[in-house]
Amino acid sequence: MDFNNKVIVITGASSGIGAAAALLYAKQSAKVVLVGRNEESLNKVAKQCEDIKGFKPLVIKAELSNDDDVQSIVTKTIDKFGHIDVLVNNAGVGTRGSIFDGVELLDRAIATNLRAVYHLTSLAAPHLIKTKGNIVNVSSVAALRPIKDVDYLPYCVSKAALDQFTRCVALELGRHGVRVNSVNPGGTRTPFAETAGFSKQQVSELYKNRNESYPLGKMAESEEVADLILYLSNDRARSITGSIYVIDNGEILV
Ligand SMILES: NC(=O)c1ccc[n+]([C@@H]2O[C@H](COP(=O)([O-])OP(=O)(O)OC[C@H]3O[C@@H](n4cnc5c(N)ncnc54)[C@H](OP(=O)(O)O)[C@@H]3O)[C@@H](O)[C@H]2O)c1
Ligand SMILES: *[C@@H]1O[C@H](CO)[C@@H](O)[C@H](O)[C@H]1NC(C)=O
Ligand SMILES: *[C@@H]1O[C@H](CO)[C@@H](O)[C@H](O)[C@H]1NC(C)=O
Repeated sequence: MDFNNKVIVITGASSGIGAAAALLYAKQSAKVVLVGRNEESLNKVAKQCEDIKGFKPLVIKAELSNDDDVQSIVTKTIDKFGHIDVLVNNAGVGTRGSIFDGVELLDRAIATNLRAVYHLTSLAAPHLIKTKGNIVNVSSVAALRPIKDVDYLPYCVSKAALDQFTRCVALELGRHGVRVNSVNPGGTRTPFAETAGFSKQQVSELYKNRNESYPLGKMAESEEVADLILYLSNDRARSITGSIYVIDNGEILV
């Protein structure tokens, strides 16, 4: 897949799926823009990208729940590269909680998983229209059905709203030649669960349960999800828009 000279903005590029996508895009000669909060991790991923083809990524430290930071992502990218071809809205937070835990948890989930995506997409859209570019949102199977056994209500609700956003924006931007799609992973081996507050011991049990319960008997790796992101953002997928792509080892079936 050719991404020669394409400018790819990836949020949540400091870890997991976003970092894996950054490396795959770098392999395909893309100019990658790495967005995240942890500067040390961002710089580590940037170095790995640079080692692949010698091209230095643009690193942008941004807190996505801060409007000025979101604005700076588009401004800095245009200042440096002049255009945007692909926006990967990947950053997300696994906010846990039940209906009895207060509405603040919903605000937190929505701030990163929905509002930031909405805001960043709106600022990037004029630039994507110029390049006939496209957007890939990283959602979750949690958007399509509740997560069992763990209280993940705010997260599930925010991801379901994200999917509807994908379809609505795909309709709106379609006439401008801009495609918008979603990748919805099931359990994937990344730091996500630990960041969501599970201990190492709990993560190990969670992974063991998933290995046993998923129809394919295993979880996904970041690179596999990243592969699907690349495919959807490539011209090969030129007829695909408004689609929700599940990659979950059959999790949703059981
Ligand atoms: N792993 C799974 O099982 C799974 C399943 C379904 C869906 N997903 C989705 O996949 C996406 C990527 O998750 P992952 O598994 O790769 O998790 P991860 O390793 O925890 O990575 C999350 C990324 O999002 C960034 N991020 C989170 N909140 C942010 C904020 N407020 N501002 C800026 N950056 C922020 C983090 O940046 P910093 O670390 O720099 O703060 C990090 O780079 C998420 O949207 C997640 O919901 C994951
Ligand atoms: C998905 O992508 C569309 C188009 O870029 C965007 O408008 C929407 O906000 C995104 N949804 C989420 C939840 O990220
Ligand atoms: C889950 O399965 C994978 C390979 O299929 C294996 O590498 C991993 O160690 C297993 N994890 C647990 C906790 O059982």
